[in-house]
Amino acid sequence: MNKVINFLILKFIPLIPISIVRKFSGRYVAGDNKDTAINVVKELNKQGFSATIDILGEHVATIEKATHITQDYLQLFNILNENKLDCNISIKPSHIGLDLGVDTFTQNANSLLYKAKEYDNFLRIDMESSKVTDTTINYVKSKSEDTKHVGTVFQAYLHRTLNDIQSLSSPTINYRLCKGIYKEDESIAIQDRKAINTNFIEILKKGFELGHFIGIATHDLLLLEDIYSLIEAKNIPTSQFEFQVLYGVPMGGWLEKHLKNNYQVRVYVPFGPEWYDYSIRRLQENPNIAHYVLGNLFKR
Ligand code: FDA
Repeated sequence: MNKVINFLILKFIPLIPISIVRKFSGRYVAGDNKDTAINVVKELNKQGFSATIDILGEHVATIEKATHITQDYLQLFNILNENKLDCNISIKPSHIGLDLGVDTFTQNANSLLYKAKEYDNFLRIDMESSKVTDTTINYVKSKSEDTKHVGTVFQAYLHRTLNDIQSLSSPTINYRLCKGIYKEDESIAIQDRKAINTNFIEILKKGFELGHFIGIATHDLLLLEDIYSLIEAKNIPTSQFEFQVLYGVPMGGWLEKHLKNNYQVRVYVPFGPEWYDYSIRRLQENPNIAHYVLGNLFKR
């Protein structure tokens, strides 16, 4: 049944009227310009949340565009610093030019990292599909002196991840752990939802043992129960983790629970003019998200 629904969703996604896509994306996207996004961050900070900001978009096809996006991110670092906001930056490698070559990506990531260091802020490099896992990890590994200012993301659905996190040498390593959003082949990625959760906990346990700082990024309330049990059983200090969520996703009281426990929560705030293309691509890449979209549409 799910397969049929997914097929229908894939077929009809491009026909969804822009006004409807705008309506659902409004809940999850902090507007289409810097000002709206910064206002959202200010409000989140007031409520006790940290934030990470992301300009929507990916897979740029020209050097000019990659440079332009990098400039936008540099400006964002300036604005965050001027306003003394508790907010770092998340980028997608292909948004700052990875499809144009590793050199372009490295050059642009380096200038962002330079800025992050200048302001004692942090650059999070989101993890895209398995085509770029090695490149992304290698970049971060090459910056082992700068782990206070740069880190990437590991995906619990990949078979390789438990090994990957054990190959990180710096004790001050800082990464986000999430399930993984891209469609990957079963030869490299766990497909079963329960097994992904088991691996998530396994990776978290190992990461904590190794002294890593982990941004625990999930909205899965059952998984959160297990994560809380692990944190409490092992007495993990708050200096070793924070929780991360996407802006707008309902958390059934867990955000308040985290804050009450003095656990840091970072909200991922995406914004930008490319909200439409981005939303449509996300839906096409993973029709499962469309279930959330449709669900939320009908809930309003
Ligand atoms: P699960 O998929 O079980 O979702 C649990 C519940 O959360 C759902 O039932 C639904 O209600 C809600 N929900 C989840 N995602 C939603 C969404 N997008 N919109 C609305 N409701 C939603 N992936 C990746 O491959 N690379 C990356 O760099 C990142 N970065 C990242 C940052 C942050 C802060 C988060 C929270 C997630 C990511 N992800 C990601 C996405 C992640 O890999 C994963 O696909 C989603 O978080 C969904 O998995 P959950 O763990 O939330 O559980």
